[in-house]
Parts: sequence; C-alpha cells; structure tokens
Amino acid sequence: MTNIGLLGAGMIANVHAEAIAATNGELVAVFDPCKHRRDAFAQKWDCDSCDKIEEILSRPDIEAVVIATPNDQHAELSIAAMRAGKDVLLEKPMAMSLAQCDDIINVQKETAQLLQLGFVCRFSPAAMKVKQMIDEGKLGTIRHARATLLRQRGIPGLGSWFTTKERSGGGCLIDIGVHLIDLLSHLTSATTPERVLGMCSQTFSMESYGYDEMWSMPKPDGTFDVEDGVVAITTFANGITNQIDVSWATHLPESFIRDGITIEGDKGAVWFDLWGDSVAFGSSVDGRSNESTVEVNVNEAWGDAFQLEHKAFAEGIVNRVVSSTAGTSDDGRKVQTIVEAIYKSDNEKVEIQINRP
Ligand SMILES: NC(=O)c1ccc[n+]([C@@H]2O[C@H](COP(=O)([O-])OP(=O)(O)OC[C@H]3O[C@@H](n4cnc5c(N)ncnc54)[C@H](O)[C@@H]3O)[C@@H](O)[C@H]2O)c1
Repeated sequence: MTNIGLLGAGMIANVHAEAIAATNGELVAVFDPCKHRRDAFAQKWDCDSCDKIEEILSRPDIEAVVIATPNDQHAELSIAAMRAGKDVLLEKPMAMSLAQCDDIINVQKETAQLLQLGFVCRFSPAAMKVKQMIDEGKLGTIRHARATLLRQRGIPGLGSWFTTKERSGGGCLIDIGVHLIDLLSHLTSATTPERVLGMCSQTFSMESYGYDEMWSMPKPDGTFDVEDGVVAITTFANGITNQIDVSWATHLPESFIRDGITIEGDKGAVWFDLWGDSVAFGSSVDGRSNESTVEVNVNEAWGDAFQLEHKAFAEGIVNRVVSSTAGTSDDGRKVQTIVEAIYKSDNEKVEIQINRP
C-alpha cells in the first residue's frame, strides 16, 4: 500500500481521492493554500490537513504525491516533490511551456523519481479495448486518426485561473485538447511530430456565455483571454496524421454531443465514444464491407479510468518504471511540443515545421 499526499484540494483532487481509496492506496495528507478547502477535503477523506507544503514533502511516511493544482504550479511543485524524494502523479498538462517540461525532466533524471502524467483518457475502457484491437493487428497499418470533443456548456470556472492565460497557459487546447493529442498519439503509435497546422477561436465572451448550467461557478470580474475552440492537424515522422476538433462550449443540443474518436487503418477502422461501452468496428471481408460492434466492459467509465490510472501508478512505484499504458514525462513533453506549435501556427497563420527555424 502506497502512502500518498495530495497537493490541491479542488475538483479533480476529489476524483483522485476516490480512486486512491478504491485501489487500496492510503491518502494521508492534503495541502491547499485555501484553508477552508483543505480542511473540508481532509474531513471528507479522513486525512491530515497541512498548513504548508513542506509538511507533506518532509514526511518520511509519504512516498508519493498527486499534483492537482492550477497549471502554473505544475513545474514548481513536481520539481520540489521529486527533490524531496517523492514519486509524482502529475495532472495534465505537464506544464505551461516546453522550457518548464525540460526543467521537470532534468530533475526527474537527477533524482530518479517516478513521474507519471495524468493522461487519464488512456485508461478509458473503450480506448483500452481499441489499443488491444490495434495491437492484435485488426486495423492493419494506421494512417490517420481524429478526435472530436464538443461540449455544450463546459468552460471550467469562467473567469478563473482556467480562462486566464498567465495561469493556465491557454484555453480548451491545453485543458482538454491535450488529452486527445496524447490519446491519438498513444493509440496510433505516432512518433516525432514534424508539422502542425492549428486554428484557435474564441466564440464566447464573459458577457455572451450563458450561465444557467455550467461546469463551475463563473467569476464575473475575472479574465477570459484564451481560446474556447481549436482545430489542428499534426503530421508525425512515421507518416501518421492526427486531427483534433475541440470546443469548451457550443450551442449544439446536448443529445448530439459525443466525445468521438476515429482511427483509420488499411485493414479496419474504429469509432468510439471515449466514455462509452462499445466500439464500432468496420473492415473488409472478401472484398465486402463488414460492420460489427465490440462490447466493452464498463462500470462508470470516468471513475473506472481514474482507478486504472492509480493502479498503474501504484505498480509503477513498485516496479520503478511508468506502466506502458500510462503517460510518461516524454509523452507530456511531446504533447506540449504540439500545443506550442498549434498556438504558433494560429498566431502566424502558417503550418509550423517543428525543429526548423
Ligand atoms: N485528468 C483530468 O481529466 C482533469 C480534469 C480536471 C482537471 N484536471 C487538471 O487538474 C488540475 C486541477 O484542476 P481542478 O479542476 O481540480 O482545479 P480547481 O481550481 O478545482 O482546484 C485547484 C486547487 O489547487 C489549489 N492550489 C493552488 N495553488 C496550489 C499550491 N501551490 N499547492 C497546492 N494547492 C494549490 C487551489 O486552491 C484549488 O483548490 C489542473 O491542472 C487541471 O488541468 C485534470
């Protein structure tokens, strides 16, 4: 059993606490600069509430920390935790810039601590089934993949750190687009990104966004200086192309909205809803189209995925290597490379050749 400390007591920290409890980990302490939040969290999850981060980092009984803070804290906290001898499960995005990713990777190498990235979509039951089908050769050679994630009212905390570029590093791209960039790359075994074309948009404003039902409470005097939509296509060195289409918010009817992923190979293709319980599989048999539905064993897909992520983290701590399903720091850096290229492409209105001036 691993003794874990949590840095951050916000929305996703509660999901981690639940997953830790379900996978036989021991959540022993939490730190959050907001006293009211950390105390309520500690009471709910029966752990110690710490006044200072050092109280967690200096405790010898704590082997690992989960970092579930705003993005601008990711680099500083993961570096501090690894220097204090803790293994780290770091929420996505890895950091806010490639330079910060490199700082984290340097300290990871120096300290030899385990660093797993919070790319939880890799553990979606449907995505894991598709990975298995790909590994079994059912899709043949993969050429192209695309992911669509359109929310109806999904801007997290409009006006909060999420929508303030200085604190988040960007909008829906760095918030949810990173999950899809990583997942497509993982499923298709895409290698080094070579060319990126991206376009960002901001459809809503503090005034025009409807509040009747939304992700979290708006901060009316806050900032909203990031994109709420992005489309992008990345070409990798092994010829694979991956495409994303993401919106935090649209006026589309809720019943129409699905998190759809398509993977196309020369022998077969799949479509699946990330949080669904089946995969649509098409192939060709004796020259004729063949269609089938592959059932996926799912309890509650999002919760299942976080539990599998924590199970992998616990195994990684024992084996001293990040599980093959989970995201590594190299995966986090690769995603950040693509994110930066998408923003650059949008700014300069050209396709970006990565690693070329
Ligand atoms: N994997 C996923 O699907 C997923 C989902 C949501 C959020 N996230 C990521 O998790 C992180 C947190 O998101 P959230 O939705 O929980 O945000 P949140 O705003 O609900 O919570 C963040 C918490 O961190 C605290 N905090 C700020 N600075 C801190 C510090 N230095 N040390 C400790 N705590 C600090 C804040 O007071 C707040 O309570 C973000 O990086 C986000 O991208 C991941």
